[in-house]
Amino acid sequence: MNDAAARRYSTGAMIFHWAIAILVIMNWQIAERAHDLEGAERMAVFGYHKAWGMLILALTLGRLAWRWTHPVPPLPSDLAKWEAVLARTVHVIFYVLLIGLPLGGWLANSYGGRPIDFFGLFTIPALPVGENKDLSHTIFEAHETGGSIFIYLIGLHILGALKHTFFDRNGGIFRMLPFGKVPG
Ligand code: HEM
Ligand code: HEM
Repeated sequence: MNDAAARRYSTGAMIFHWAIAILVIMNWQIAERAHDLEGAERMAVFGYHKAWGMLILALTLGRLAWRWTHPVPPLPSDLAKWEAVLARTVHVIFYVLLIGLPLGGWLANSYGGRPIDFFGLFTIPALPVGENKDLSHTIFEAHETGGSIFIYLIGLHILGALKHTFFDRNGGIFRMLPFGKVPG
């Protein structure tokens, strides 16, 4: 691998990053739409939200497996200490939410006594936890809060990417894209 390639994420990491980013934003929008509906329609749209959420969980596990088996480029050396710490902290919280939101959703759904229909292809069974409507409700409330935190952090993450791309010019968004200039 030449020097320039070592400063970018691997192609696999890029594919996982952008596929998951699109799905997360889409699934947030689906949840917002479902929230405003009622009855059977609400159930149907939340059904899609749950299936996409489980797909995000599977992709995230694949992404982490990829990350552990492929080199990750170091952060640009001109980052201030606080920027490096903030960037890494947000990335770690992202992974926690990418796993915690769908797992929490699955758990809450299971306490509600319901399996998940995966796009009519197969059924993901409820976890063997028994029924507990109160707990189900509490976990879903935490799920909504986690979802809101996710959205704010995505905003911060995008602002950071734009700053490094256009102000610091140290690679920024091109580190996660197969084209563009990533200076050394
Ligand atoms: C990474 C994946 C996921 C993300 C980013 C996500 C995000 C969200 C967000 C932002 C909301 C709040 C919507 C609103 O009320 O305005 C929400 C609600 C909800 N999510 Fe998810 N979710 C994910 C996965 C899942 C999964 C896997 C399930 C179920 C198995 C699930 C079930 C629900 C339910 C039932 C609600 C409504 C909660 C309520 O108001 O009672 N979500 N989700
Ligand atoms: C919407 C959901 C998104 C999620 C969940 C997400 C998540 C992540 C995570 C976890 C990393 C760290 C990669 C690692 O080292 O393992 C990362 C890196 C990165 N993301 Fe995102 N991202 C999202 C959207 C975006 C968007 C919209 C942009 C561009 C505007 C972007 C630009 C970047 C860049 C440039 C990096 C590389 C950071 C570096 O220089 O090391 N991301 N993202």
